[in-house]
Amino acid sequence: MSPFAYGDLVLLLDGKGRRVLLQLAEDQVSQVPSGHHLPHQEVVGKDPGSWVKPVGGRPLLALHPSLEDYVMAMERPTQIIYPKDMGQLLVYGDVRPGTTILEAGVGSGATALLFLRVLGPQGKLISVERRADFLRAARDNVVTFWGGFPASWDLRHGDIYEGLPGCPPLDLMFLDLPEPQRALPVAADALKPGGLLLIWVPTIYQVEKVLAQTRQNTFSPPDIKEFWERDWITGPQSLRPDHRMVGHTGFLLRFRRHHGKGDGLYGPLDPPL
Ligand SMILES: C[S@@+](CC[C@H](N)C(=O)[O-])C[C@H]1O[C@@H](n2cnc3c(N)ncnc32)[C@H](O)[C@@H]1O
Repeated sequence: MSPFAYGDLVLLLDGKGRRVLLQLAEDQVSQVPSGHHLPHQEVVGKDPGSWVKPVGGRPLLALHPSLEDYVMAMERPTQIIYPKDMGQLLVYGDVRPGTTILEAGVGSGATALLFLRVLGPQGKLISVERRADFLRAARDNVVTFWGGFPASWDLRHGDIYEGLPGCPPLDLMFLDLPEPQRALPVAADALKPGGLLLIWVPTIYQVEKVLAQTRQNTFSPPDIKEFWERDWITGPQSLRPDHRMVGHTGFLLRFRRHHGKGDGLYGPLDPPL
């Protein structure tokens, strides 16, 4: 990794685990969590992993932010998919270089960033967002982290429930919006046979509505999953799980699109609603 330069993002960590994310700019001074001030020129030219010293304060560790660091520090006008769940989207969505993905909505851009960094220059991400203000916020977040507008990104202002003109055949569609069942006809049209549909919803009422619409149509019965995360406390006298854990954030539903209706095929697997 090259030394820090003006325009770079830098993550600063102090000995108490506090963190701050800055974008380095000429003649700028920023306050760090201890209340001391750090001139940005103190960071410029140093290698990631170096210690930098705020005026009168204790040294801070300077790092390039990971995607996790960035999404937790960026402006978030909407709920996002948190790091706990992000990696699962890559695995269960089979995201790899060259994948063609559609996501709706874009929200704050956290999942756009996740997909963009994996699908590479041969892949494509079409992101659809209904609200112009969220679309701008997501674009700003992605451009800041990426250092420009990604060539593989097609960011569109629109309502996914109304269809998607000019959509290429998709390997994956990811829906993170309140009424995903209303986008199922669009998903059935746009996904390649064998393509994957991932849906993220926080409540079981929403899961039921999706299941009611996906019976007897072009999707396989879903896998439904939740992911839990528990941190550990590490101290000189204590090495144990934290009392609290991150439990429910949402349900991940995964369907496979197939040819035809599959009538009768899923009888025993299709749960009565
Ligand atoms: C929870 S946020 C998505 C968060 C995003 N996955 C992230 O991690 O940053 C849901 C978004 O869906 C958008 N939305 C809701 N209905 C929509 C629709 N019919 N078409 C497009 N976007 C929609 C909302 O405006 C909101 O920005």
